[in-house]
Amino acid sequence: MSIEKAIPVFGALTDDIDHVLLTAEELDTIVKRVGCEITNKFSVETGNTGRKLLAVCILKGSLVFVADLIREIKLPLEVSFLRATSYGSGTVSSGVVEISLAIDEKDLIGADVLVVEDILDSGHTLSNILKYLAGKGAHSVSLCVLLNKPSRRKTEVTIDYEGKQIPDEFVVGYGLDYNEKYRNLPYIGVLKKELYS
Ligand code: XMP
Ligand code: MG
Repeated sequence: MSIEKAIPVFGALTDDIDHVLLTAEELDTIVKRVGCEITNKFSVETGNTGRKLLAVCILKGSLVFVADLIREIKLPLEVSFLRATSYGSGTVSSGVVEISLAIDEKDLIGADVLVVEDILDSGHTLSNILKYLAGKGAHSVSLCVLLNKPSRRKTEVTIDYEGKQIPDEFVVGYGLDYNEKYRNLPYIGVLKKELYS
């Protein structure tokens, strides 16, 4: 499709955004800083031990973040994917989380596992993912989240690397969706409330 034809589609997505919370430039700064923190931590900890650093992308929301983040981690690493489906309605997740795409468990053995998630909200999804990963033979499991909504927490989850704390607003873009749309927006925006309430 020509660029001329693509522009109106992108424009229509933008019409649904109330305001931009993080611009593409701000996201870039955040991702570089987090990548640097992870690089420093694992170059000291893993050093020449020969252990594998395994970034685990939680699908689908983290796909854009992971793609950018791994290029800011200046160490050898591998990438795996895990999908957790959290049942709920509209913009609220329930406590019921199912691992719908699992990692090949032999990849976890002895690895420094870095779970990479787009957003931490109630904590239900990540606490279930961390429970799933526990006891599977990883040397360590740490957690990196791009966005954190602390005011929404229902279950305690410890974050090792955090992009930014945000207020209790439903956000889309940079991988995050509402009904599978908006993932391709290059910024994080607050979705207009009338679209989901
Ligand atoms: P919990 O409540 O389990 O939620 O911590 C984590 C998952 O819920 C989704 N989520 C959002 N998705 N904008 C989104 O596009 C948001 O503001 C938002 N808040 C939560 C997301 O899939 C995350 O993995
Ligand atoms: Mg998600």
